[in-house]
Amino acid sequence: MVKGGKRLEGEVKVSGAKNAALPILVSSLLVDGWNTYHNVPRLMDIESTKVLLSKLGADLETDGHEVRINARGFNNHEAPYDLVRKMRASILVLGPILARLKKARVSLPGGCAIGARPINLHLKGLARLGAKIDLQHGYVEAEAQQLKGNEIYLDVATVTGTENLMMAAVLAEGTTVLRNAAREPEIKALADVLVQMGADISGAGTSIMVINGVPELKPVSVSILPDRIETGTLMVAAALTQGDVTLVGCEPAHLEAVTHKLRLTGADVVSRGSSIRVRGPAEIASVDIKTLAYPGFPTDMQAQFMVLMSVAKGLSMISETIFENRFIHVSELKRMGADINVSGNTALIKGVPQLSGAPVMATDLRASASLVLAGLAARGTTEVRRVYHLDRGYESLEKKLALLGADIYREKE
Ligand code: EPZ
Repeated sequence: MVKGGKRLEGEVKVSGAKNAALPILVSSLLVDGWNTYHNVPRLMDIESTKVLLSKLGADLETDGHEVRINARGFNNHEAPYDLVRKMRASILVLGPILARLKKARVSLPGGCAIGARPINLHLKGLARLGAKIDLQHGYVEAEAQQLKGNEIYLDVATVTGTENLMMAAVLAEGTTVLRNAAREPEIKALADVLVQMGADISGAGTSIMVINGVPELKPVSVSILPDRIETGTLMVAAALTQGDVTLVGCEPAHLEAVTHKLRLTGADVVSRGSSIRVRGPAEIASVDIKTLAYPGFPTDMQAQFMVLMSVAKGLSMISETIFENRFIHVSELKRMGADINVSGNTALIKGVPQLSGAPVMATDLRASASLVLAGLAARGTTEVRRVYHLDRGYESLEKKLALLGADIYREKE
């Protein structure tokens, strides 16, 4: 439940990045021995990953934000449907299982609310590394006595596709060149961990990555980088409420597109070291955005930015170029009084003076965050239902917002 109208003020620490922690925890499968991971966010998706890794035979210990994983007992090559369907990113185990056990049987992840989410490029890349791939009864069945390095061109700079192929290639024989690789900070973060484990990777974070296979890796102790999407979400919350919020423990360099667009709305954004201070403008200016692969404006910030535009002065256009169905939050925002028209992958937003609180339904992770943000700015009370979507990717978001002065609490569902 969110009662709108409060200015957010104060300081809050950002959690570790979900989309870096997921592939990095999975990379523990590549080595025998205890790996220690610090600053791991406490999220449903992290719990799902830990359940899957233990099902594959790894030992895990958790102490707060520290997770320790030892894949010495890793011997099960199958990732079942009932686990993979809970979290699509489970597909990330395919590369490591193939690299270490020579065969893999992983459920196809299927689509989700925001799109079909195919994995054809993951499979094409693994086939280029010599894997025999079959799709049987909703499962990927893959075999490879020894993965061999090769040239791989990714038709789309897929994030988890790049990560899957990196984890398959580090133990392959010979050199792999990944062209049109994803450049997100989470890719560089995974590469840094793999290099610390003894992998030979160059060009991570650029479109061309070169990986020379090595015979084995060694366990590591690493810390997960800050979550740029949680940071961006809280920056929008500050701008939306004419607030004055300082985010600490973040990485401003990973948010340049979001910072640039927020400044155009009139927000005052000042980055200093690992903190960002955001002061919201008295009047929010309308700004157009187009989501693009990194370093463009992130698709994971589109729904949040749309809330800001829905109470801006004038007309703004938002184009979603990454996923085919990522405007599900629009109908709920319109029930709160937003004036938005969608045609194809473009939304036209006419700013209104204020949204009005209403009972709304969350459908996917970032849409649920946008509905909470809308509640902060709305007149009256907003009840966001199915907030379990929120728990997949935000650690105690309502507590962080309450710390900043929001009138928000969670009811038992
Ligand atoms: C990652 O998903 C993130 N998830 C997503 O974050 C994020 O929205 C997305 O990258 C884009 O930045 C994780 O990192 C766990 P993609 P991913 O493969 O890897 C097409 C969140 O809210 N494609 O980069 O699944 C695909 O259809 C989540 O935290 C193929 O066609 O995204 C899409 O249009 C949501 N074939 C585009 O590429 C493939 O084999 C980008 O998808 C793979 C992808």
